[in-house]
Amino acid sequence: MTAAGAGAADRGAFRDPAFTANREAPVHRWVPWIAGFSRQFVQDALARHLQAPGVVLDPFAGVGTTLLEADLAGHAAIGFEINPYAAFAARAKLAAHRLEPARLRTAAAAFEAFMAESRRSGRAPSASPPAAFRTRAPFYSPAVERKVLLAFDFMETLEAPVAALFRLAFAATMVGYSNYSYEPSLGRKASVGRPEVEDDDVAGAIAAKVRQMADDVAWYREDRANPERDDGRVLEESFFDGYAALDEASVDLLITSPPYLNNYHYNRNTRPHLYWLGFCATPGDTKHLEELNFGTYWQNARYEARIDLDPAIDDAEIRAALDEVRRRNPDKGVYGGNGWANYAARYFNDCARFAGGAARCLRPGATALVVIGNSILQGVPIPTDRFLAAIAAPRGFAVAGIHVPRETRVGSSIVESSVRAGKAAGGALYEAVVELRRL
Ligand SMILES: C[S@@+](CC[C@H](N)C(=O)[O-])C[C@H]1O[C@@H](n2cnc3c(N)ncnc32)[C@H](O)[C@@H]1O
Repeated sequence: MTAAGAGAADRGAFRDPAFTANREAPVHRWVPWIAGFSRQFVQDALARHLQAPGVVLDPFAGVGTTLLEADLAGHAAIGFEINPYAAFAARAKLAAHRLEPARLRTAAAAFEAFMAESRRSGRAPSASPPAAFRTRAPFYSPAVERKVLLAFDFMETLEAPVAALFRLAFAATMVGYSNYSYEPSLGRKASVGRPEVEDDDVAGAIAAKVRQMADDVAWYREDRANPERDDGRVLEESFFDGYAALDEASVDLLITSPPYLNNYHYNRNTRPHLYWLGFCATPGDTKHLEELNFGTYWQNARYEARIDLDPAIDDAEIRAALDEVRRRNPDKGVYGGNGWANYAARYFNDCARFAGGAARCLRPGATALVVIGNSILQGVPIPTDRFLAAIAAPRGFAVAGIHVPRETRVGSSIVESSVRAGKAAGGALYEAVVELRRL
């Protein structure tokens, strides 16, 4: 393997891949998403690796950072995403250039008028809350819920493209006026010492978001390198199930960030969005997403007697690390090392599936940039970046390098948990860019 050690201070030419910079950037700022990367990171990658219009693939597209930047730069963008809310957000962004910003502004004004008139007339909402969406404490106060339902009534009157952005504006603001927050992951405001929300300006929050979208759409339409282009695609399915449908060797650049080996639970953390936007009606509706998720989740893998690394992954170091995790804390039952080793084995098996799929899609000489965080399981350091590179190497790739733009990482729900109990022993958390070249 030719990879540089992840600890080496090789930052390559990449800027910090953290998503935080996207919070200020037009269109990207519409919705937050966990563990994405910044648009600058994608811009750097596109400028460096694609001199002419090409095909850009993100197999784990999230809310579409890669796809949007690829589209802006005049490339064809293809993404896979299993989370229906994230896929919806990515699609809405990619389609936004088709919309006249004035239509959004007119709708925002009509919405405010509708809400004001509803307040004056005491109109009862026709919409109803998602029946199976249960939370420990009421998600919305009665006053807020009434306003939210009236907003849904209004959205019913809108034409599809405008309605889609209204729904996204609601999704982006919905936790703000709820009794929950994302500090650090979805939980009650009361449990982090914040007051319950008795009432709030729901109409103002949604209308402000829609107006921000109108401004951004105007900018997006101006800024697209190829205004004729309209082929950005988000496929709402697992990359593992869908990649074979892409033409072989048809992709010029792959930029992605798969779920990290930190058990961040995309399903649980998007429950409010999935239910309120109607992407699921019962808990069973999204259960299958857990199995589709890259590496599945520890909560699923821990109950298996033993999940082993695929024998096709011929790497003694990975095997030794998993054995070490498996030996830790046997007295803790499913919470001990075996459960975590099962989860990690599933994860690295999926790394092999990913490398196989990527190798099929990429043309010879094309680059794959994979942003991935390391991990510490039961006190055992897991250099996920080096392991991914080692898995990719015999599957059609040369490892061009491992760059570490950011050496400490915080903000993941796992940091607080017992998985990190061995942090001191395990070393620092970092994020790395694994650069692979298709042979
Ligand atoms: C780290 S996030 C990507 C964030 C993205 N870079 C962005 O900027 O929004 C990983 C994403 O992979 C998705 N995912 C997990 N397993 C997948 C699979 N098998 N196929 C496609 N997407 C998957 C998750 O739902 C999640 O949105």
